[in-house]
Amino acid sequence: MKIQRFSKIGFVMAAAGSAVGLGNIWKFPYMTGEYGGGAFVLVYLVTIAFIGFSVMVAEMLIGALGRSDTVGSFEKLAPPGKKGWKYAGFMGFNGIIIMTFYSVVIGWIFYYLFTLTTGLPETTQEAKGIFEALVSNSPAVSIFFHTVAVIIVGYIVQRGIKSGIEKINLLLMPALMLILFGLLLYAFTLDGFKEAFSFMFEPKWDKLNSEAIVRAVGHSFFTLSLGMGAILTYAASLPKEANITKTALIVTFMDTLIALVAGLVIFSFLFQFGAQPQQGPGLVFISLPTILDNFGTLGIFFALLFFLALAFAGITSAISLVEPVVQYLIDRFDFTRTKAVVFISILYWIVGVAALLSYTKSYGDIFSVAQKPLFDILEYTTDSILLPLGGFLIAVFVGYILDKDRVASQLKKEMGNRLFTVWRFSIRYVAPIALVFMMLNLIGIIKL
Ligand code: PHE
Repeated sequence: MKIQRFSKIGFVMAAAGSAVGLGNIWKFPYMTGEYGGGAFVLVYLVTIAFIGFSVMVAEMLIGALGRSDTVGSFEKLAPPGKKGWKYAGFMGFNGIIIMTFYSVVIGWIFYYLFTLTTGLPETTQEAKGIFEALVSNSPAVSIFFHTVAVIIVGYIVQRGIKSGIEKINLLLMPALMLILFGLLLYAFTLDGFKEAFSFMFEPKWDKLNSEAIVRAVGHSFFTLSLGMGAILTYAASLPKEANITKTALIVTFMDTLIALVAGLVIFSFLFQFGAQPQQGPGLVFISLPTILDNFGTLGIFFALLFFLALAFAGITSAISLVEPVVQYLIDRFDFTRTKAVVFISILYWIVGVAALLSYTKSYGDIFSVAQKPLFDILEYTTDSILLPLGGFLIAVFVGYILDKDRVASQLKKEMGNRLFTVWRFSIRYVAPIALVFMMLNLIGIIKL
């Protein structure tokens, strides 16, 4: 197979671009708000440090050693007699399931970017009205912006690793960081900042229930793009001399930092004017614009910057969700890149339309199962079930199946013996056991 190689910095930015996404700026703040702040953040940070980072190294290693699509890499690396492991490579298809709702949210962001310039809502009621009008009453508008998102993402992926994915990440990631850190500097000057800081970093243990723990663990996989082959697929294009451990460390650090910065920015703005943090998925679409209205014209400017950062983050992650399956179709079925992109895009566009219709008043019932909108089902299934399952398979594969000497020879020179022992312990015991507990908890066999 012909695989293009990233440049060193291109790979770091692409992997970070994949990790830093709607998960950081949209989902992390609203989940933190819903699950009471500090304690949730602590579980999330601990999971990232003790499980997420190790699994990221493992997933990168599979890509770097396998140098193929998700299925091909597992197949190539599995020892004879264990080739059934190639089926683990179908985790690449999770990306397409995630894309069904991810592209809908990117569409909402585009809509906001378009309409914000005409002014911000003055009351929460008005803001709710705008969001609901979009999500529940205007399927045509939602479908239009969803389509725009699908086309933009498809176009970038079609351009390939070098002139599509690497280029766009080198451009958008620094822009995104600049915007967010600029907003953070401003948030520092607000009185709300102190409150935001203690909300996020002072654990209130009574708020922490088993659901919050499961969601925090699931989210740490989602936010690091683990368990569905995005990182694996990018790592197949890793430049030869790249250091996996160092790259994984930088990506994990950047992803966590940006989530925390986004949280601090949003909560500082909210607390400045006494708004409540537990508003669910509407947090950045409803509360934030209303609050920013208090800043007058400056508020419109902040809102535009914020939604621009959100759009950038979403796009760079979306391309990494599509790329694994595109690469798979190119490798296995001799698709041209263009054909693969068109095929995949149409597929998830259709399910995405069904997902967005499941939130509308007129079609909600048709696209819901047991009262649950398809949108929520897709989101829950991927981040709480499929990604942890993918992470579990990666940990077991690298910890027990992959040739031990190959793993050691690559990682020991990067990590040194001591850290390697810790990493190996985490990948063989901590990660799989924690993930099994989580999955058992989900299907209700045990209660955490
Ligand atoms: N990490 C991305 C985010 O935080 C989402 C994602 C998940 C991207 C899995 C790729 C793979 O939004």
